[in-house]
Amino acid sequence: MKRSMMVWGISAVVYLGVVMIGYSVYSNNTNNSNGSMNMPGMEHSSMNMSHESVTELKSSLGKNEMTFPKVLKPDFEDSNSISYTIRAQQGTFAIFDGMKTQTFGYNGDFLGPVIKLKKGMEVSFHLVNDLKENTTFHWHGLEVPGDVDGGPDKVLKPSESKTIKFTVKQDAATLWFHPHPMHETAEQVYKGLAGMIYIDDTNSEELSIPKMYGVDDLPIILQDKTFTADKQLDYGKAMNEDGTTGDTLLINGVVDPKLTIDRKKVRLRILNGSNMRTYKLHFDNYMEFQQISSDGGFLNKPNTTKEIEIAPSERVEVIADLTKVNGNQVTLINEGNTKVLPIHLNESHDHSQQTIETNTLNDLALTDEIKNKEVTKTIKLAGMGNGVSINGKKFDENRIDFTQKQNETEVWEIENVKDSMGGMNHPFHIHGTQFQVISIDGVAPPENLSGLKDTISLKPGQKANIAVRFSEKGIYMFHCHILEHEDNGMMGQIKVD
Ligand code: C2O
Ligand code: CU
Ligand code: CU
Repeated sequence: MKRSMMVWGISAVVYLGVVMIGYSVYSNNTNNSNGSMNMPGMEHSSMNMSHESVTELKSSLGKNEMTFPKVLKPDFEDSNSISYTIRAQQGTFAIFDGMKTQTFGYNGDFLGPVIKLKKGMEVSFHLVNDLKENTTFHWHGLEVPGDVDGGPDKVLKPSESKTIKFTVKQDAATLWFHPHPMHETAEQVYKGLAGMIYIDDTNSEELSIPKMYGVDDLPIILQDKTFTADKQLDYGKAMNEDGTTGDTLLINGVVDPKLTIDRKKVRLRILNGSNMRTYKLHFDNYMEFQQISSDGGFLNKPNTTKEIEIAPSERVEVIADLTKVNGNQVTLINEGNTKVLPIHLNESHDHSQQTIETNTLNDLALTDEIKNKEVTKTIKLAGMGNGVSINGKKFDENRIDFTQKQNETEVWEIENVKDSMGGMNHPFHIHGTQFQVISIDGVAPPENLSGLKDTISLKPGQKANIAVRFSEKGIYMFHCHILEHEDNGMMGQIKVD
């Protein structure tokens, strides 16, 4: 990330030029309501003037023991149906000792509970907006009809509530939920509106993998924030049009986290719930671990790796065998050397755990018929700041960009169009579907991207073909999951019927 001042200066000048041109091109159709000269990166800090302006993340000091979100208690449950109440609310939360941070949360002050669902169940969610502003409830990764998907047109005003119903038809997966109101998504997520959804099915219940919640099956929500001197989340101040990053990493809302645990295999269900930061994780002893899931569920077989990259909104499940650690400590690291999570191992071995190696997790297939289908939808992701667009357009709630038939697979070509500055990564997400990657730049995807996905992160210049099928009907969003890009209109709509 370091550049010499000289190079930096030159690129800043070039960049400004590009922004000026970009600004005049896009200024007529910008969705940003403050019509002033709102040039990306300029108003906050001159250090934001590069595509590469990502705030450096501080290491965890390992001061606070990790906590895990509560599992939400159903209002009602029987063998084939379940109902929950989910409440968006504001509160204060002691992220730092003795300090009260003003936050948002679901059914609590900060972040949300884990919502457990089972395949085949009829689900009813009673949704309540206890905030003082509009919000929506979006189920990221759930294959549900468009009218209950919680897109920007499904606003609940303050103190409004409604009940939605759907049936869980998809396989076991780790999903999440967050708000989606136009222009406000980034700020609401930043303040704490995010929670996880676990879907289980007979496969996930029978596999010999760790599955005791909070014991060896651990949710890990990664989010970076910037705190003011009095430990508040000032989104307006921290905001960057190209994605807000922070210097302070929270895991499940815990600052300077550490994990104390028995020496055994643990399953980490990692969600990147950050506005824009991508994480690249490894252990400080460079031990191998196994990725067993991607966004939409289990990979066909575990993928052994030493490092894993997780773009905004993506989920991965990994199994780390802590019995293989020499000594009493191992640390999860981001990129070069930022300590994300120091893990302290108790002396006691846990012998109760099943040690059978699971090799078959799933049976996903991508047929030749699908692979050879012609591309029928093309998506060009381009721009930065206020100038972001999809196929040259910004989001318009009155425009349907594409249509597709329910249960029909089409091949979408997604391209991250390189700009004169090199461009930036765009994590592209589609609502209401779990797709499969056919190829990236013409080559079959690596093992870890060959399972079900709802988000694919593309580097500048990269092009991917994906097989997309919607199992329900309705209108769905597709967008860049850098939340500020989404809020700036890097989003479109598809109607499935
Ligand atoms: Cu996480 Cu529009 O979604
Ligand atoms: Cu989504
Ligand atoms: Cu983007």
